[in-house]
Amino acid sequence: MQKNILIIGATSAIACATARLYAACHHQFFLVGRNEEKIKLTKQDLLIRGAKKVESYCCDLTKMENHEKILHHAELSLGTLDIVIIAHGVLPDQQQCEKNIDFMVQSFEVNQISTLCLLTLISERLKTQGHGTVAVLSSVAGERGRKINYVYGAAKSAVSIFLQGLRNRFHGTGIHFLTIHPGFICTPMTENFKKGRLWKQPDEIAPDIVKAIAKKKDLLYTPWFWRYIMLIIKMIPEKFFKKMSI
Ligand SMILES: NC(=O)c1ccc[n+]([C@@H]2O[C@H](COP(=O)([O-])OP(=O)(O)OC[C@H]3O[C@@H](n4cnc5c(N)ncnc54)[C@H](OP(=O)(O)O)[C@@H]3O)[C@@H](O)[C@H]2O)c1
Repeated sequence: MQKNILIIGATSAIACATARLYAACHHQFFLVGRNEEKIKLTKQDLLIRGAKKVESYCCDLTKMENHEKILHHAELSLGTLDIVIIAHGVLPDQQQCEKNIDFMVQSFEVNQISTLCLLTLISERLKTQGHGTVAVLSSVAGERGRKINYVYGAAKSAVSIFLQGLRNRFHGTGIHFLTIHPGFICTPMTENFKKGRLWKQPDEIAPDIVKAIAKKKDLLYTPWFWRYIMLIIKMIPEKFFKKMSI
């Protein structure tokens, strides 16, 4: 059946790889991103790959006054929202966050506040609609605070807890919230990292995301082995963990 898909942060490499799989099944899209040129290219790419219709809206997602407008335009374009994917985010420079509170607050606005605001508005609309799935890119970094990225991790942790609350609130209503915890994925966000065997490409994890949405899963670790890596990491007692450099 044809689906109407809203993608917020649609130029994200993970979101693009996921959208391509949906495009091949001729679904309809409304894309939201801040870079007009990248959005235009993403639109063309999805149409070539089989999308039935692709419309878009460009804005900075940290400007919360844009959020109602996004949803208004998405509904005008698509009618109902069957699937919403929230993918925008930044990996802030941890050391800069430690020295500059404006920079730290800014990173929370992108990674946390904007997502929580969008989730609040979207969940009300889905309640009226009576169905829909919202899939959000959170992170394994939100599961344990580490010195190298605790500002990013703390923001993602709030997103995951918020989603847990929404799942509990909407249980049994036909509205579904999927939390996605990707591991190490090669995207522009991680381009400066030294890559090892744990690293995957966006198109290697996109099928997991599509499957988890279809199966109405609550929490997806992708690739799968991150569930076990995080199980071990979360089991390490704090008195040892605080001395470690992982
Ligand atoms: N890559 C990983 O290893 C990894 C791991 C765990 C979780 N994640 C999460 O996965 C999601 C997707 O990231 P990715 O890896 O696909 O990285 P990416 O390709 O760099 O995508 C990040 C996206 O966020 C958008 N964005 C950032 N700030 C924005 C703002 N203020 N307004 C509008 N859009 C904004 C960027 O837009 P521009 O294109 O205009 O810059 C870009 O499209 C993120 O939430 C990230 O935290 C990634």
